[in-house]
Amino acid sequence: MKIGIFVGTAGGTSMKIAKALAKEFDVDSDDVINMEEDFDDVEQFEDYDVLFLGSSTWGKGEVHFSWVDPILELESEKPDFSGKTVAFFGAGDCKKHGEHFCSALGKLHTTFTGLGATAIGFIPKEDYLYEFSLAEIDGKFCGLGIDEHNEKGKTKERISNWIEVLKSEL
Ligand SMILES: Cc1cc2nc3c(=O)[nH]c(=O)nc-3n(C[C@H](O)[C@H](O)[C@H](O)COP(=O)(O)O)c2cc1C
Repeated sequence: MKIGIFVGTAGGTSMKIAKALAKEFDVDSDDVINMEEDFDDVEQFEDYDVLFLGSSTWGKGEVHFSWVDPILELESEKPDFSGKTVAFFGAGDCKKHGEHFCSALGKLHTTFTGLGATAIGFIPKEDYLYEFSLAEIDGKFCGLGIDEHNEKGKTKERISNWIEVLKSEL
């Protein structure tokens, strides 16, 4: 089971999650792909059975800009991702941007499950305070959101709890 971690980040907060995941799941640094710096082609996703996919949220609930072209390409080329397992993570701000808190996770979820991938790592939405989020799917949060602006003290525990969820589902 080969794991790849793909992350779009501006300030490095989402990379912090990526690095914790890499350490815990023993993922080589070459398999931690910074979307802005290391990503060239959607074929890179093909190398992995399990994809941990991260993005902070921008604009009004948008993915980090480094994800925009890959998502367009995936949605037009429609590679078959059935058989792949995906999980989503990313940073946001539930107070200033509570109208779209961590919505990038929901956008990634739509794209990758639309290609046939199986999503894991849903957690109770009750851990978060927000008005609206595309990450809320079927009454759960579709991955790990962290908020270093308002809830920094929860980050460590949120990451380790989520790792346990992933381990139980993989
Ligand atoms: C212009 C702007 C728009 C933002 N829009 C959102 C948003 O819609 N939803 C959200 O949860 N956070 C939003 N944020 C907060 C960022 O996602 C947050 O700062 C996050 O920690 C950045 O993580 P990164 O360091 O991984 O890029 C926004 C921040 C800025 C400056």
